[in-house]
Amino acid sequence: MCDGKELETASLQISQTPEWKALEDHVTEIEKTHLRDLLRDGHRSDTLFHEFNKIIADFSRQRVTSKTLELLTNLAERAKLREKINAMFAGEHINTTEDRAVLHVALRSPRTKKIVADGVDVVPDVWQVLDKIKDFSDKVRSGEWLGATGKPLTDVVAIGIGGSFLGPLFVHTALRTDQTASEQGRGRNLRFLANVDPVDVARALNGLKQETTLVVVVSKTFTTAETMLNARTVRTWLTTELGPAAVAKHMVAVSTNLKLVKEFGIDPNNAFAFWDWVGGRYSVCSAVGMLPLSLQYGFDITEKFLEGAHDVDDHFRTAPFEDNIPVLLGLMGVWNTTFLGYPSLAILPYTQALSKLAPHIQQVSMESNGKGVALDGSKLSFEAGEIDFGEPGTNGQHSFYQLIHQGRVVPCEFIGIVKSQQSVYLKGEVVSNHDELMCNFFAQADALATGKTPIELRAENVPDSLIPHKTFTGNRPSISILLPELNAFTVGQILALYENRIAVQQGFIWGINSFDQWGVELGKVLASKVRAEMHTCRTKDRNVSPTDGFNHSTTKLLNRYLEGKAR
Ligand code: F6P
Repeated sequence: MCDGKELETASLQISQTPEWKALEDHVTEIEKTHLRDLLRDGHRSDTLFHEFNKIIADFSRQRVTSKTLELLTNLAERAKLREKINAMFAGEHINTTEDRAVLHVALRSPRTKKIVADGVDVVPDVWQVLDKIKDFSDKVRSGEWLGATGKPLTDVVAIGIGGSFLGPLFVHTALRTDQTASEQGRGRNLRFLANVDPVDVARALNGLKQETTLVVVVSKTFTTAETMLNARTVRTWLTTELGPAAVAKHMVAVSTNLKLVKEFGIDPNNAFAFWDWVGGRYSVCSAVGMLPLSLQYGFDITEKFLEGAHDVDDHFRTAPFEDNIPVLLGLMGVWNTTFLGYPSLAILPYTQALSKLAPHIQQVSMESNGKGVALDGSKLSFEAGEIDFGEPGTNGQHSFYQLIHQGRVVPCEFIGIVKSQQSVYLKGEVVSNHDELMCNFFAQADALATGKTPIELRAENVPDSLIPHKTFTGNRPSISILLPELNAFTVGQILALYENRIAVQQGFIWGINSFDQWGVELGKVLASKVRAEMHTCRTKDRNVSPTDGFNHSTTKLLNRYLEGKAR
């Protein structure tokens, strides 16, 4: 294993290495190829078709040859990727700017494994919290834990934002239509409250009764302005109806900051801890996700989710790069973004149940890798980060696919499922709803890759004037991922595929710190300044203008806002 210094040096110099230069030179070779021709080579397609524990990842529609893969592997070795992966799993402080280990993989480790951070095996701590979650969620679900008026708590509102919201929402959305999970969740409701917008508060509480509602306040820091204000608002909603003592039965917390949990008025016995070595956006496998999801579906279901994530972690840690799906996904990301110059990635699941995957991955990817400097603070000589967006197929096809077929080149990731969660709708039709959905999954990837030439259009008697409009240049890269079914285990696998690919691979190759997020701070600081000004204007004469310290434009807008409210 190499020490932190060595890892840093390797990363810092990555864009000056011969391996980087070789890839830059190789681009001209690839520019001469077209996916239409590359796909005629069956042997090439076979070598780009990868399988791990029933996950299929087909990379044949990437603009790569065996030479590209060889050069990318050389770059990975030069970047000391293997050593960096090992350093992460060994609990080294690879988050250098915050001097922390990065061990979200420990959250899904079996009890029997040992993962050490700062000299301590963290796995027993992880399982102590998981056992507490099981115990508490069993009690709430069985009606042993009752609300202040003696009623069972059937509705849960999870208050949190960013990483304390998007991952749990993604998993909840994926599980609610799974047959087993939905049966276990029958009669129960899980809602999320993220935005500080009063509209979101109203939406989250609409129709709920205080006496049957359990509130889970989820915040790593327990200082996030939006979450804390929402928590106070919902506490008032509860106590106005049930009295102040109801907090003990109706409010619990998930945080690393148990001191602030206590100060807020939640009994630390009703708090579920996690640790600094879990980044917010990597926290869905901690109590952040496990508590609300276990309350909804039962601990046995969420445990399967952890097992799925661990399954892919193990593959990622041990498989050789040439067979390692998260590594290959990451290498393709580097190739497309950095060398071919395609800055975005469309995440396109052909299943409605994964409709919240793209919003979650947006945070994991863009908050991790949207950086402008290398580990030592020097300015990057290339643009890191990737612009992620997505929508389930086929809905996206009727929205932004026009652009990805004939406008800008946007690498796509198609995710398909062999067996639908809803077998009940498979009967009666020759081509079922699910088959129809999947026809599009297959067709779109080929349409992007092969396109349609003017010659083909002429053969179809398309008038000359329309030929430019109907031509599809093709040669647009995509990856197709096929899973046997969508259940708690495979949702865990998907999560770990993306987390490992994004958090580790691209950051490790690019030589940036994928685990800090200083870029979100400036806006927060400026919001506090506006908040203070608003407070002053409220407490003083309403006509006082907030002129201190703002530019002309902000002062003018802010005045309009305050005047509008006063009317
Ligand atoms: O605004 C960024 C952020 O710090 C995210 O990284 C984090 O997931 C989110 O805010 C919420 O933070 P917390 O869990 O501490 O409330």
